[in-house]
Amino acid sequence: PTAAPPLTKRVLLAAPRGYCAGVDRAVVTVEKALELYGAPVYVRKQIVHNTYVVQSLEAKGAVFVEETEEVPEGATVVFSAHGVAPTVHEEARARGLRAIDATCPLVTKVHLEARRFAADDYDILLIGHEGHEEVVGTTGEAPAHITLVDGPDAVDDLVVRDPSRVAWLSQTTLSVDETLETVRRLRTKLPLLMDPPSDDICYATQNRQVAVKEIAAQCELVVVVGSRNSSNSVRLVEVALESGARASHLVDGAGELDEAWLAGVSTVGVTSGASVPEVLVRDVVAWLAERGYADVEEVVSAEETLLFALPVELRKDLKAAQ
Ligand code: F3S
Repeated sequence: PTAAPPLTKRVLLAAPRGYCAGVDRAVVTVEKALELYGAPVYVRKQIVHNTYVVQSLEAKGAVFVEETEEVPEGATVVFSAHGVAPTVHEEARARGLRAIDATCPLVTKVHLEARRFAADDYDILLIGHEGHEEVVGTTGEAPAHITLVDGPDAVDDLVVRDPSRVAWLSQTTLSVDETLETVRRLRTKLPLLMDPPSDDICYATQNRQVAVKEIAAQCELVVVVGSRNSSNSVRLVEVALESGARASHLVDGAGELDEAWLAGVSTVGVTSGASVPEVLVRDVVAWLAERGYADVEEVVSAEETLLFALPVELRKDLKAAQ
């Protein structure tokens, strides 16, 4: 009997992947605040949903807390990229905290849309994942007007006050395809449903899903680097599987990779969520290279150039310190 030909082993690296403009801004905000005011700088919730980023900032003197009441009076607190309800700003003021708001401007945009629809007395159907910090923050803008819709199956049981005054908004990091399906079902039930003024699912979420779709069908395995609580990273695993990958796994870093996943695998796809530093992807690529997957091709489906200015309260102090 002749032996089977050796596997051609290669890696397809999706692009864009990793850091988005909102994450970059939030991480730099904490770093600059530490430089400017000195440690400790308190951060309410994980600044971005990535274990490595949180640990690196902790090592530099950031202290992560769950709620504003854990921050000593008069101290500096940074609000995370996912956004906060207005009540959190009020609490910070009441405690005399120096608050720096690192909410991603694309999340703030959704907050403003919620406020506008609520001011016009619309019921707002917020498509998103129950309990996610971004959903909690956005809902806080108009709690009496907002109802959470957690996916297509939640549509049937919905009740609205007036079917002619209903709008939908969404979390920024959802699956594009699943959200389209949820909206389609909503519109069947509520034909007068108003759309958001512009896309709520952000450019980074969309681009990373398109990029993983490009490679998934050619891959027996897609490795997504990202933390378990990172919504957009978890979505990338789902999109990879829906788009033809035979298997897909979410890992926080190379340490979580498993050799057993490589059995019979010729092409490995690699991508990462919007909160993931590139160094973690490089570690994964190096781990694969050590196991014969040394041929790496980057598949680029979009170029990203967006950059956000730092929060205004920090910019003012940075300027004054010059
Ligand atoms: Fe902002 Fe989207 Fe990143 S909402 S934080 S640009 S994933």
